[in-house]
Order: sequence, then C-alpha cells, then structure tokens
Amino acid sequence: MMNYTEPYISTPEDIIPKMLTLASVMPNEMVFDLGSGDGRMVITAAKDFHARVVGVEIRRRLVRECRRKVRMMGLSHQITISCRNFKKVSLRKADVLAMYLSSYTLNLLAPKFMKELRPGVRIVNFDYQIPDWTTAREIEVMPAGWEKPHSIFLYVM
Ligand SMILES: C[S@@+](CC[C@H](N)C(=O)[O-])C[C@H]1O[C@@H](n2cnc3c(N)ncnc32)[C@H](O)[C@@H]1O
Repeated sequence: MMNYTEPYISTPEDIIPKMLTLASVMPNEMVFDLGSGDGRMVITAAKDFHARVVGVEIRRRLVRECRRKVRMMGLSHQITISCRNFKKVSLRKADVLAMYLSSYTLNLLAPKFMKELRPGVRIVNFDYQIPDWTTAREIEVMPAGWEKPHSIFLYVM
C-alpha cells in the first residue's frame, strides 16, 4: 500500500479538544488515533471525553513515551497503544478517528476506511482533507502561537 512514513508533527494542544468536540466524542466510545505520536490526542480523549482509545504508532520511541505517560496518569484501563503500522490494524470497532495525517496518507487509507468503518463513524483530521471526500463540516482554528488559521475537517461515514 505505501512505503512512505508520515513525519512526526504533533497537533497543537489547544486544537485537540476542538477536534474531539467537533467529532462529538461521547463517554465510552472507541476513538482511534492512527499515528498517535506522543499520545496527546489519546490522553485528552480518555481523560476529558471519557472515551476508550486506541493509539497506533510505528515509532518505538514515541510508543514508549506515550505508554509511560498513560501509566503515570492512571489511564491504562482506557487506552491501548499499539506499536504497529496502522494499515494493518482493524478499524471495525471505531466510533471516531481523530488524526493528524497528510492528504497523501489519507488518500491511501481511504479504501480501508470505506471497507472497515461502519456508517455513522466520524473522522476528524487536522489541517488536511481526504481527497475527493465531501466534508460534513470544516472549522477554522488558530492554534496558539501559529501565524495563520488552519482547519479541522469532519467526515461522517
Ligand atoms: C503528523 S504526526 C501526528 C501525531 C499525533 N496524532 C498528534 O496529533 O499529535 C503522524 C504520526 O504518524 C506516525 N506514523 C506514520 N506512519 C505510520 C504508520 N504507517 N503506522 C503507524 N504510525 C505511523 C508517525 O510516526 C507520527 O507520529
């Protein structure tokens, strides 16, 4: 499917609650972050939105860092961090995908989304659209310290 590995750039902290609110994350829902980085998205989804969360991350250093934070915050019962390639992970249990991936990678994942995500599943992505998909909503946000506004895109399967 792909050999390109998305670089690690974290979503600005102040944007994460906005993404999860746009996706209407409810307590106990299953939220996936494909490429979960240092875990900031998964931790906020568990701690502030009371979701069950799966983070999938290919870089071992980030997985270690994230797992340590999850343990320290006492969120291990809500969060699973999988050190895997996200193209190999089943998305069938997801209610929400909350991610920061490029349009290139989203385009490669789009057939998997179509195959595995149930109707009604919400996808939110920071900054990049899924090519050729119709957004349910787009909101403009200004991350703290950034110079220009950026967008969060919402899709509903
Ligand atoms: C732009 S960063 C987003 C990090 C995090 N979601 C956030 O919002 O702060 C993308 C992440 O995807 C990870 N990644 C890239 N390709 C991957 C793959 N095939 N499987 C799992 N993780 C991957 C990278 O290591 C990186 O941490």
